[in-house]
Amino acid sequence: MADKKINIFDTTLRDGEQVPGCKLNSKEKIELALALEDLGVDIIEAGFPISSPGDFASVQQIAKVIKNSSVCALSRAVEKDIETAAEALKGAARPRIHTGIGTSDSHIKSKFNATREEILERAIQCVKWAKNFVDDVEFYAEDAGRTDNDYLARVVEAVISAGATVVNIPDTTGYCLPHQYGEKIAYLIKNVPNIDKAVISCHCHNDLGLATANSISGVLHGARQIECTINGLGERAGNTSLEEVVMILKQHHTLGYFTNIKTQKLNPISRLVSDTMRMPVQANKAIVGSNAFSHSSGIHQDGFLKDAQTYEIIAPEEVGADGSKIVLTARSGRSALAHRFQKLGHSFNRNEIDVLYSEFLKIADRKKEVEDADLQIMAKNFEVIPS
Ligand code: KIV
Ligand code: ZN
Repeated sequence: MADKKINIFDTTLRDGEQVPGCKLNSKEKIELALALEDLGVDIIEAGFPISSPGDFASVQQIAKVIKNSSVCALSRAVEKDIETAAEALKGAARPRIHTGIGTSDSHIKSKFNATREEILERAIQCVKWAKNFVDDVEFYAEDAGRTDNDYLARVVEAVISAGATVVNIPDTTGYCLPHQYGEKIAYLIKNVPNIDKAVISCHCHNDLGLATANSISGVLHGARQIECTINGLGERAGNTSLEEVVMILKQHHTLGYFTNIKTQKLNPISRLVSDTMRMPVQANKAIVGSNAFSHSSGIHQDGFLKDAQTYEIIAPEEVGADGSKIVLTARSGRSALAHRFQKLGHSFNRNEIDVLYSEFLKIADRKKEVEDADLQIMAKNFEVIPS
């Protein structure tokens, strides 16, 4: 059972905060870190301390207040970065340094003008250096999604030997297809002799809209940590969305995977992040979008009113959403109209609903959505018609 526990590594405060316009101050970061801990995330990536004095201070303060989740700080494979991350994490109950380097040929040549052997050596050295400060060291092989699997396996084996407790396999550019990403994880599990000494982590970007699918594929092939953000925020098209992967694993519980996330807190934290980062959530976003539990077509509304499960696979209260909504539009049917009138305190028989429905359609064709106030006027006018 324990080997099916999936650790949730939240990077809203680091990768998520890289979104233009989403910059947070220390007070906002602490408030979000406390909410993430309350949500039940296993690891909070609090920031990139070398990047600015403000980020250093935020990581330092988060490290002091967070007690149950691990607090993680990002660094490049550079001694000074690692030392600064370690300094910011001092006092953390569970500190983790996340260090690493690009391993794809594109990164090796264009970013570092180096060879594979040189990068392998730098990878080993950065993990060894980080181990001088903390026990829990996560290594990232940036652009692993486009890294040759043989070479990636050599890097992974070497960093585990150097002491990495977690190895992150980022699909940095969101390039992989789900079966390719899954096969990459399976390849590492099969070909890295010391793989049982570390946890393999998925860190998938959403450039092709595949971040969630790729992360789940990674888990199905042996990864045991998912790196994700609230509302899927992150560089470019974003990161894997925390609420999506958590609810996929919960809905498909027969697979045996589970997380520690308190799912009733998903919608409240989504709103908190959206408000704090001034980043609206798209209405049709899975789990946390305003339309995620709205039903507007007549066929769906009729089925939903007979049995909610006909069109809802998740109960809104399970994810802390306000509740299911029947939206009255020109596509709605008589049963939804009768149901809404009933809720507003008006009982009409079939014939009466037929008459009211024609009236309703005229209003609905003029307006995008028919409001309760419109129905109250209709009911009032209807009741005063002499029979
Ligand atoms: O996308 C990426 O590769 C990253 C690493 C720094 C972990 O964010
Ligand atoms: Zn990333």
